[in-house]
Amino acid sequence: MREYNVFCEIHPPQISIKKIKEINPQGMIFSGGPSSLTQKNAPRCKKEILSLGIPLLGICYGMQLIAHFFNGKVGKSSAREYGKTYLCIDDRKDLFSGMKKNIITWMSHEDKVTGLPNGFIRLAHTRNSKIASFADRKRKIYGVQFHPEVVHTPQGKEIIKNFLFKICKCKGLWTMKSFIKESVKQIRQQVGNASVVCGLSGGVDSSVCAILLHKAIDKRLHCIFVNNGLLRNNEEKQVKDTFKKHYSMQFHYADAEALFLRKLKNITDPEKKRKIIGKLFIEIFEKEAKKLTNITFLAQGTLYPDVIESCSVFGGPSAVIKSHHNVGGLPEKMDLKLVEPLRFLFKDEVRLLGEALGMPDEIIYRHPFPGPGLAIRILGAVTKERLDILRQADAIFIEEIKSAGLYRDVWQALSVLLPVKSVGVMGDERTYENVVALRAVTSVDGMTADWAKLPMELLEKASSRIINEIKGVNRVVYDISSKPPATIEWE
Ligand code: XMP
Repeated sequence: MREYNVFCEIHPPQISIKKIKEINPQGMIFSGGPSSLTQKNAPRCKKEILSLGIPLLGICYGMQLIAHFFNGKVGKSSAREYGKTYLCIDDRKDLFSGMKKNIITWMSHEDKVTGLPNGFIRLAHTRNSKIASFADRKRKIYGVQFHPEVVHTPQGKEIIKNFLFKICKCKGLWTMKSFIKESVKQIRQQVGNASVVCGLSGGVDSSVCAILLHKAIDKRLHCIFVNNGLLRNNEEKQVKDTFKKHYSMQFHYADAEALFLRKLKNITDPEKKRKIIGKLFIEIFEKEAKKLTNITFLAQGTLYPDVIESCSVFGGPSAVIKSHHNVGGLPEKMDLKLVEPLRFLFKDEVRLLGEALGMPDEIIYRHPFPGPGLAIRILGAVTKERLDILRQADAIFIEEIKSAGLYRDVWQALSVLLPVKSVGVMGDERTYENVVALRAVTSVDGMTADWAKLPMELLEKASSRIINEIKGVNRVVYDISSKPPATIEWE
């Protein structure tokens, strides 16, 4: 939808009618999901949503939910449909406008709509689903059993486009230029005459966030760079130099290496590490902010995936995968209020925003680096000695990727120091040293990722350099797991 310049947000099913009315959307989509309406705890929304007069498209489970609400029939399929499925279109007036009679779609379902609800007509069918798409044109409610949102439905984008422009009558006005204008207005409104501290890590998110804020409130923005001792080789100097070279903003430097390392001593649990680091960050910002006058806000480059992954869809406690320190690790009581101008954007959109703000490529295309830094890439306890080993490995791996000209093709590349030692032989001597895991992934937004098929020669060179140049490492392995089921970082 956003690729068609239409803004959209994701909300959990228990959203209130009041909130929907406040948002006043041009249209809604009920997404698919793994549940079955035959289960007691299957997610449902309030039935009133369907009588708000807002155009609605239900996808897979979403379509079944619509059928259920309007007393249609939903039942189990005798033949499951999974994967590539031919769809025969019976009606090409709006949702399927401009399409051939038969198209390829992607299905993934066991339940299906077996009886049309009152007032609905059939728009399409497949061999195993008599009702693979339906509509009640009067109420502007539509449903599709297949998944138009995946690339495996080649014309899926066209279907979404038809829904947006032909049914919801969207105009497609959401561009990065309009986003900048709107954000600057909102930041000014939220902040008033107060000043803001911004945690600047030098990564694309916090940098774009800072530049946007700078545009909105100029000298009332104070950027604080925290050296937590968990940074990569030379990172501190690079960030300082880049910002001094390109921008004239208030840049403050806090050296907290000793404090972070002390608090992390002997901590091996990944969640504990994340929580400690998140808490320390905020404490330092608050301390730095107290040295300045009129500071009431803390700006963060939180992105939409962080917000989605940290929020519970079912209202109650849900599976927390990781406490991303931008969101989940924030202490409950905080002296500063938050400004998060990027919280509705995905990573690729932040880069587009950076370009629209005229930022240099070296910032925009830097690989993501997590807030908790190298601490979550050292499995087990974090020590200065282990950090130094990892910093060297990371620098070599990135250098080799860059000299192979592949830095921009990879979403993120990183090194991990494992908490095991392995036996090796160097010269004629037995060694018993550390293992470094290299990880490189391709991804669009970090939500899902595939391991990067880097050239063997590159891996070979990186491995050989790491083992030869770094004292204390005698083995290098390459991580070939995708996300899911693995995650990008190891902790
Ligand atoms: P995972 O490991 O969850 O990572 O697959 C997805 C992306 O998020 C980054 N990441 C973080 N970024 N604070 C951040 O700002 C964090 O606590 C954090 N944890 C993971 C990770 O590097 C990857 O790009």
